Amino acid sequence: MLSETKLNVLKQISGELSRDEAIWASGYLAGIAGGTSLTAVLPPQQLNNSSQNVVKKITLAYGTETGNSKKLATALAGIVKKKGLQVKLADLSQYKPKDLTKEEFFFIVISTQGEGEPPALAKKFYDYIHENEINLSGLKYGVLALGDSSYPQFCKTGEDVDSRFEILGAQRIIPIKKCDIDYEQEASHWIEHVFETVNKNADQNPKSIAAPKVSSGRKKYQGKVSAIINLNDIMSEKETYHIEIETEEAIVYQPGAALGVIPFNSKSVVDEIITLTGIDPQKQIETSKVTASVEELLHKHLNISYLLKSVVAQYAKITGHTIPEVRLSLLDLLRIYPVKNADEFKEILHIVTAQAPRLYSISSSLEAHGDTEIHITVARSEFFIDHQKHNGLCSGFLSEFKEGEEVEFYIQDAGHFKLPEADKDIIMIGPGTGIAPFRSFLWERDATGAEGRNWLFFGDRNFVSDFLYQAELQDFLKTGSLTHLDLAFSRDTDEKVYVQHKLEQKSQEIFYWLEGGASVYVCGAKEPMAYDVEQTLLNIIQNEGKRSKEDAVNYLEEMELGGRYAKDVY
Ligand SMILES: Cc1cc2nc3c(=O)[nH]c(=O)nc-3n(C[C@H](O)[C@H](O)[C@H](O)COP(=O)(O)OP(=O)(O)OC[C@H]3O[C@@H](n4cnc5c(N)ncnc54)[C@H](O)[C@@H]3O)c2cc1C
Ligand SMILES: Cc1cc2nc3c(=O)[nH]c(=O)nc-3n(C[C@H](O)[C@H](O)[C@H](O)COP(=O)(O)O)c2cc1C
Repeated sequence: MLSETKLNVLKQISGELSRDEAIWASGYLAGIAGGTSLTAVLPPQQLNNSSQNVVKKITLAYGTETGNSKKLATALAGIVKKKGLQVKLADLSQYKPKDLTKEEFFFIVISTQGEGEPPALAKKFYDYIHENEINLSGLKYGVLALGDSSYPQFCKTGEDVDSRFEILGAQRIIPIKKCDIDYEQEASHWIEHVFETVNKNADQNPKSIAAPKVSSGRKKYQGKVSAIINLNDIMSEKETYHIEIETEEAIVYQPGAALGVIPFNSKSVVDEIITLTGIDPQKQIETSKVTASVEELLHKHLNISYLLKSVVAQYAKITGHTIPEVRLSLLDLLRIYPVKNADEFKEILHIVTAQAPRLYSISSSLEAHGDTEIHITVARSEFFIDHQKHNGLCSGFLSEFKEGEEVEFYIQDAGHFKLPEADKDIIMIGPGTGIAPFRSFLWERDATGAEGRNWLFFGDRNFVSDFLYQAELQDFLKTGSLTHLDLAFSRDTDEKVYVQHKLEQKSQEIFYWLEGGASVYVCGAKEPMAYDVEQTLLNIIQNEGKRSKEDAVNYLEEMELGGRYAKDVY
């Protein structure tokens, strides 16, 4: 086919080629034959760099509760892909930890939940790496920890994973980055660092990386309290407030989402602190988060109602007092272990942590109540110190609101706690304020005419005084929006009856619903309610489904992974 001269040239060149060069040349020639450009036959990595030392693949895994880590990981994956690297994005809820030994580059974006716990769906992965001695000596890794520094256990899960990987022999190629709620900037630096480290050998001249457009979802809304009603009867030992807030601006949320509030400390407590310490209330103080007058800082920004043990220990160090390992309010500390002067108190202001937000499940629905009105259901929490009754800070703060007063809040996404498709059945277990998101679910399903059946298990102390939203629920029953309602009032009978006992009584029907694809939601007190309910569900699956204990656990886990079993417990 070739002339003798051309054939000789080809023989001469090909004789000098290495194996790799010969493979490349065959692709080149094939490209010419097919009319393709040179670049079309090159592997994608070679478009961006000339080095042969290219990283084939990185895995980027995320563990998330409310979606931030997922959004961030997705943004990072996009950037790395654009640069020509292969990236596998992995949800830790689906990831098989055994596969870690097959990985070379593994990066994790993971948040912390509860009191320093992993996101619910990443718990299986977290437990696996902590309970098994896997050899990860072939793994290079890095961790981006999302958290909120207002929580005492800041970024604990990320820290745990980071140190556990090291113990298992993996090589940390970039240091852990702990990010607060305004994580965009730091995350983009981390992303850059990941990119540079991974590409060190592959790309001599990396392009600058655009910061990912990721939002923390913490947009602040201003609203006015338009109604506040105690849902408990006057005879009740409890106070549970139905609070309606109106906004000028449209609010966007899904049923299952929560409203976040940062409570203010009482003005009288602040005044007392100022008098005790002699500090100038108007003095401007700059903390790591905010610059404000002493008065404003104490009223709006600092957690002074219940200091962490670590803060009390720092207080002892600054003031020179010997203080036992306790949690106390700042006012009590100042009364028992006074500061020497205003300057010493200024130092104290720098060690006190920021006020933590509190979440309240939204009990309204956009479809039913419009986008400028939002409802929450707040139980005024109480506790006793030396037989004296005290109220929880935020629930007390919200319960004392008057109609017309202004309130600032943000929306915390529903995350895993969201309604399934309209035709799917749901079982809702929500005693006490656990009813809140289910009121939202019911209003939403009522307004949208969803065909799925809705079964509610509600409970509290007494039928007469504690049946929250009784009239509405009965209306929903009448119209068929609520298909089943089971009630457990623990103090109406000699023997205490709770929602889990009601579940037990309906074992067979519940199992039919589960087999038919129903989703189960649990909301309210974590201890002991959510635990007891879960044990009951496992018993139902075991007994009605004729399964072993282990298979029942797997059944519920599958439901959880598939988004059919969700808990919002606190
Ligand atoms: C996803 C989610 C949804 C939620 N939904 C709802 C809802 O719909 N409705 C609802 O009512 N709640 C809900 N909560 C709970 C809510 O966020 C708050 O945790 C609750 O209102 C208590 O907060 P608080 O500020 O009133 O109490 P805090 O002031 O935080 O006190 C909490 C506890 O700390 C201890 N404590 C505080 N100060 C002192 C002190 N000085 N000395 C000794 N002990 C002290 C007490 O034991 C007290 O009970 C939800 C929580 C989550 C995570
Ligand atoms: C109920 C609750 C508890 C939390 N507990 C912690 C905590 O203990 N430590 C921490 O650093 N952050 C904590 N956070 C903050 C989250 O980690 C932070 O909002 C993060 O951005 C969430 O990421 P995700 O959406 O990927 O789950 C908590 C948030 C919520 C709602």
